[in-house]
Amino acid sequence: MIELEDIVKTYTKGSVSTEVLKGVSFRIEENEFVSIMGPSGTGKSTLMNILGAMDKPTGGRYSLNDTDVSTLDDNELSLLRNRSIGFVFQQFHLLDRASVLRNVMLPLVYEDGDSGDARERAEEVIEAVGLAERMHYRPTELSGGQQQRVAIARAMVTNPVIILADEPTGNLDHRNGLEILSLFQRLNSEGRTILMITHDVEEALLLADEVWICSGAPMRILDRIEPPGVKPRRADDPALVEARSHILQRLQKEADDAAR
Ligand SMILES: Nc1ncnc2c1ncn2[C@@H]1O[C@H](COP(=O)(O)OP(=O)(O)OP(=O)(O)O)[C@@H](O)[C@H]1O
Ligand SMILES: [Mg+2]
Repeated sequence: MIELEDIVKTYTKGSVSTEVLKGVSFRIEENEFVSIMGPSGTGKSTLMNILGAMDKPTGGRYSLNDTDVSTLDDNELSLLRNRSIGFVFQQFHLLDRASVLRNVMLPLVYEDGDSGDARERAEEVIEAVGLAERMHYRPTELSGGQQQRVAIARAMVTNPVIILADEPTGNLDHRNGLEILSLFQRLNSEGRTILMITHDVEEALLLADEVWICSGAPMRILDRIEPPGVKPRRADDPALVEARSHILQRLQKEADDAAR
């Protein structure tokens, strides 16, 4: 369903170019949950922006559901972003001047205008994330965890094939973070493919089919760990505990090598 082949991303600033991605290749199958971990600045967000069709690679091939994304024009790209991909970011990225309902309706209104169907569908997903009572609040009147639930509702509203989440719990406390993860768990069990970047190893392991460990300059996927045990795992699940120490060692070694 997602296939990257030799993706290259080079940023050029003046006479300096930085190769952030150089020959990144992988496949992600439908309904897979992949967690991505790695030190800061390795290119995780850069990769995700390419997957989300928010940024174009300098080279290589990216196909999403058998569509070669590199052949799409700007209109087709925005359709793809709007219809097939759901985004969740660390900073929520909501419109502060619009209500919860308006925020969640936005991806639908963008295409179909302000129809009653759009409103109904938005109400349905707002209810699904447990915010029916906050429908007419503004984001600034909500807690961080609630704002992130609005962002998830907005990401779900078009029924996208994939959800891309870049540190979705990075601004939340532990309890709110777990609530967000349980929403991802539900989406994944309903068949959605999810790619999540996180710095929290326990979080990376709770729901993942695979945890990918990256290193940078340029980015490589060093290791793909398939945690054993049935998901959602519990933090005290022995399989999780063992995978956790393996990943922590891997990340530590990476940090040591980078410092050398
Ligand atoms: N628009 C840009 N122009 C130039 N360089 C950029 C740009 N965006 C990112 N970079 C560079 O690309 C590299 C990777 O950045 P990226 O944001 O992808 O890292 P990351 O792995 O997501 O880090 P973090 O864990 O801190 O979020 C960094 O060295 C950064 O300076
Ligand atoms: Mg990042």
